[in-house]
Amino acid sequence: FARGDLEGRHIVISAGGTREPLDPVRFLGNRSSGKQGIALAKAAHAAGAHVELVAANIDTGLLSVLPADITITPVESTLELQEAMHSAQERADAIIMAAAVADYRPAETTDSKMKKSGDEGLTLRLVQNPDILRGLVDERSRQTGLSQQIIVGFAAETGDADTTALDYARSKFLRKGVDLLVFNDVSDDRAFGHDDTKVQIITSDRGDVTVGEEFLGSKDHVSQKVIATLSDKFTH
Ligand code: C5P
Repeated sequence: FARGDLEGRHIVISAGGTREPLDPVRFLGNRSSGKQGIALAKAAHAAGAHVELVAANIDTGLLSVLPADITITPVESTLELQEAMHSAQERADAIIMAAAVADYRPAETTDSKMKKSGDEGLTLRLVQNPDILRGLVDERSRQTGLSQQIIVGFAAETGDADTTALDYARSKFLRKGVDLLVFNDVSDDRAFGHDDTKVQIITSDRGDVTVGEEFLGSKDHVSQKVIATLSDKFTH
């Protein structure tokens, strides 16, 4: 892409990983560093976009490299992330959901620190979290003013005996209703917390699902490809 491809566009990006509170000091979390989302924010900004980053538990050191005119909204839990994404949605020409969102959260959160229960162990009851990406796609179809909005999802997949990781990603692309799905093959333990990642961009062209070439590269490099593909969507 060239500088200016996203001039005048407002891009909302979620990054990092959610933390689901158990009590005032404990949470259930994941290993997402936020590096992919930060790389996307930099690439979108370099292409001229106005960027809003919704940052779930990202190290301040990582955030400090971002240009000062990127708006950063810090969030912790999935429910907070959901709220921030929905309130940003109305301003967005495109939304990129790069955050690693917990599928479940503790059914109960206590206001005081949980006490050790003795020798019998502890069973936590979890409830399902909303699928934020799904909700954004649904909201877009409800509001005519949002019909041109472009929504991008990420999918980290592994394959198994019957189905390849790419097949899983292809069906996820259709199921989620996104315009672009960045498929990350994590069969060989890449992606999370690493600087290099192996991806293919899945999109559709007049109803036909198209799968881009596979490439291995830094998260900056991957982000440039994603932003270039996104820019193409705007011009078509
Ligand atoms: O279904 P899966 O978790 O693999 O989908 C990944 C994509 O969906 C990512 O873009 C992620 O940010 C988003 N997601 C979400 N809400 C969830 C789970 C995932 O928005 N509860």
